Amino acid sequence: MSEATSAIEVCIAGTGSYVPEKILTNAELAVLVDTSDEWIVSRTGIKERRIAAEGEFTSHMATHAARRALEQAGMVAEDIELIIVATITPDTPTPATACYVQQALGANNAVAFDISAACSGFLYAMKISKRLISDGAFKNALIIGAEKLSAVTNWDDRTTCVLFGDGAGAAVLRRAEPGEGSILATEMGTDGNLTHLLNIPGGGTACPITAKNANDHLQTLTMMGKEVFKHAVNRMKEAAEKVISRAGLHPEDIACVIPHQANLRIIDAIADRLAVPNERVFVNLDKYGNTSAAAVAIALDEANRTGAFKRGDNIVLVVFGAGLTWAAAAIRW
Ligand code: UT7
Repeated sequence: MSEATSAIEVCIAGTGSYVPEKILTNAELAVLVDTSDEWIVSRTGIKERRIAAEGEFTSHMATHAARRALEQAGMVAEDIELIIVATITPDTPTPATACYVQQALGANNAVAFDISAACSGFLYAMKISKRLISDGAFKNALIIGAEKLSAVTNWDDRTTCVLFGDGAGAAVLRRAEPGEGSILATEMGTDGNLTHLLNIPGGGTACPITAKNANDHLQTLTMMGKEVFKHAVNRMKEAAEKVISRAGLHPEDIACVIPHQANLRIIDAIADRLAVPNERVFVNLDKYGNTSAAAVAIALDEANRTGAFKRGDNIVLVVFGAGLTWAAAAIRW
């Protein structure tokens, strides 16, 4: 799905992120399940991940990340007109996690809702809010990717429990002033024929949680890793190429590619296929693992705050997740 160009340009005015304090290392996981630091690092690149405290919910992490993004944007919560939280681990099935975030921030003038697009959610939220701002419906938006994946992880399953972590990332979007950067092009896609490759089977109306279902871990993430891997590489490469070309750019014009942080081998394969050198690809999955909707948002904030790109640079964000879903954005910072 592509967009037509619009008169009102939309920029990213600030980013923020938050990860919980508790670090879970590969060595600690090797005590829980039959795995090793060597296997996890060589197959995924992940060295450790963060785990939220028992009473720390998705909305808490989202709120911390949002406050940092607002601060960088030089805005206060009352300025915000729209809040979208992308998550597959909401505090409650209803109301939306975005409503808890609105309350915690005191963002009393904002419309707030969640979207569920797994690891692609943050860029889905970016495209939706960009359109709503450029159409004139809202002046700004706070978009957040936030997950407490530790709550939906099967800690007995070595094929998944080594992969995931908790955290949140946020960005403030607003109308761009003349001379400021802007979101140049966005892309998103879905293939609902492949829902079975990556899902949480229980907890919805198809498979309500019963004592037996919980005992069988049906409320946790399952994944056919090898299949997902192949689709991830192909879809992310295609989506990134589309936004680069739609923005009138070439791979050599891209100062920084910020991909979904699921597996270093996937990231390397995409960099290779896009012909972007590895030093221009931002990676932080060694510290956080795969945090689903939060991953690209945390990476964007870290890349922004560590100077991986500067004002005027072109950057590309690209993601992939359950659904299957994928998305990309080309941005002039
Ligand atoms: O965020 C949404 C998108 N998600 C992704 O993009 C994830 C995509 N998939 C992947 O990243 C990779 O497929 C995984 C990291 C999940 C798995 O890596 P793989 O190279 O595809 O390994 P595999 O599943 O083919 O397993 C290879 C072997 C198997 O043993 P056998 O059958 O060869 O004897 C597994 O049982 O590794 C075994 N294995 C493990 N061994 C030690 C699987 N998990 C582990 C483990 N520790 N944690």
